[in-house]
Amino acid sequence: MILYINSCVRVNSRTDRLARAVLDIMGEYSELYLPDENIKPLSRDVLERRTNLLAAGDTTDTMFRYAHQFANAESIVISAPFWDGSFPSLLKVYIENIYAVGIVSRYDENGNPIGMCRANELVYVTTAGGKFIPDFSYNYIKAIAENCFGIKKTWLIMAEMLDIDGFDGEKILQGTINGLYHSSRIVEP
Ligand SMILES: Cc1cc2nc3c(=O)[nH]c(=O)nc-3n(C[C@H](O)[C@H](O)[C@H](O)COP(=O)(O)O)c2cc1C
Repeated sequence: MILYINSCVRVNSRTDRLARAVLDIMGEYSELYLPDENIKPLSRDVLERRTNLLAAGDTTDTMFRYAHQFANAESIVISAPFWDGSFPSLLKVYIENIYAVGIVSRYDENGNPIGMCRANELVYVTTAGGKFIPDFSYNYIKAIAENCFGIKKTWLIMAEMLDIDGFDGEKILQGTINGLYHSSRIVEP
């Protein structure tokens, strides 16, 4: 099953629209709509409890449900608008919560992360008001997905310049969606 991690907060989000067009091609999915989840930054108490549980090899606590869901997904699609040169902090908080050593990743004897996730691919879908800059958005997700979680391939699907005067955002978005349908498989732009 595909896990769709939706971090789009805005009503009528264009990023979500683009992601659903991608998902239409990919197949059946189950959605995790982050704004509706009670996901919080790790507090002192939660972190201490989590550290103790992981040290004891106990990953049955409900706090690890998102990590298990992520680790077991066959494919992953993340939608995240381009915010402040990156993505919504909600997505970072989600990553902080799922990145449990012993569930999504472990370390080898040299301190290198070894991925423990089942997914072969992760598709990152984004839209940007101006020019999209991947440095602290897609490139970060790609780095942890491939280097830490063991996900073999990461794709970027992106529409940019949607809010710039003189550019027709709706036309750009629709063009990107049409481009997906013209392709028999998802290709990196
Ligand atoms: C809080 C916030 C921060 C943003 N930061 C940037 C930015 O750094 N660069 C940029 O090009 N667009 C930025 N934008 C514009 C969005 O990337 C653009 O409108 C995007 O298409 C929104 O996607 P959505 O329709 O899925 O919400 C920002 C928008 C918001 C609301």
